[in-house]
Amino acid sequence: MPNVSSEVRHSLLVSERSRLAELSRAPSALAAALLAAAALAGPPAPVAPAGPGVPKRIITPWPQNPGLAPPVTPDLLELGARVYRGACQGCHGEKGDGIGREGKYLQIPPRDFTTGQYIIRSTPLGTLPLDTDLFGSIRRGFRPGLGMPGFTFLSDREVWAVIAHLKTFSPRFKTEQPGKPVDLPPVPAELSAMAGPGTAVFMGAGACFVCHGMQGKGDGPAAPGLVYVSGAHQGKRVPPANLHRVDTFKGGRRPEDIFKAISTGLDGTPMPGFAASLSVEQRWQLTAFILSLNPPAGTAGSPGAVP
Ligand code: HEC
Ligand code: HEC
Repeated sequence: MPNVSSEVRHSLLVSERSRLAELSRAPSALAAALLAAAALAGPPAPVAPAGPGVPKRIITPWPQNPGLAPPVTPDLLELGARVYRGACQGCHGEKGDGIGREGKYLQIPPRDFTTGQYIIRSTPLGTLPLDTDLFGSIRRGFRPGLGMPGFTFLSDREVWAVIAHLKTFSPRFKTEQPGKPVDLPPVPAELSAMAGPGTAVFMGAGACFVCHGMQGKGDGPAAPGLVYVSGAHQGKRVPPANLHRVDTFKGGRRPEDIFKAISTGLDGTPMPGFAASLSVEQRWQLTAFILSLNPPAGTAGSPGAVP
């Protein structure tokens, strides 16, 4: 990954700029956010997104237990709007349509929140996500550098507040309930032994190779024609994931994250959900197959080795 540092540096620049903008508008809010971030307890501390010195690849552990969402009060909405202006608007745009001043130039277009379609959900394709899905995405980020940094410096309350604000961009949240989460059974003990049959599902029943390529490198025959299916970015290309790079997966790299992505699909993109068409066993086989294409996490040569 020769470009990692420049990718990360770009992302840091953008997020740093957003933070500075916030600072000039609401110094106390940002100070509070930074204090809260410093106090953030929990599993392996994520690398702070905007510290000085040599930027490291940022891998945010997930899920962090977000606790309970506070009630949506006018105060919370006001805080959410402020966090959004300071930390999100530059990319996602004033109207939440994914066409922000800086976002316009990103290789991966920022989500258009007006459609209510989210790629990472625990709910079936086509349904609204749970608030906790959004919480995870905001903390974890998506491909720092090419896409969105993980927001580890916001307090839990600020994340819940900005979620309440995001939901105001789509009328769907007023009339629809989130979908019923898809079943996520426990990871089989003998997962790695399931990789062999996974190859057959990949080439056969799942027909994944059509988009992801025979080797899973994201270069299948249909790949060049894949585009966002709705919203402001409709018609823009969306390349299939390179399955040799679980560290770039947007829903996370753990077996349960990969199983979930295969089951729910990525809404708004051509990536289908396979909860109905493939059995639980077949989806674990695919998960094992994908993991077998990657060096184990943390080993030399694993691009996503946890820092
Ligand atoms: C540096 C630009 C940038 C900033 C700043 C940014 N985002 Fe994003 N965001 C993106 C991009 C790009 C995507 C699309 C990622 C993808 O499709 O892979 C995205 C996607 C999302 C998603 C979609 C998740 C899904 O499942 O579809 C959510 C939610 C989100 N951003 C929330 C936020 C919030 C909240 C903030 C501010 C705290 C924020 N973003 C700030 C660039 C940014
Ligand atoms: C019609 C094309 C298409 C087919 C068929 C398809 N995918 Fe995808 N897949 C995509 C696209 C496009 C993305 C990336 C979307 C994005 O980045 O927003 C993707 C992303 C993924 C991801 C990454 C998830 C993440 O968290 O980022 C996984 C894993 C995946 N696909 C597995 C599969 C498997 C397994 C199959 C077969 C059962 C399959 N896909 C079939 C188009 C497809």
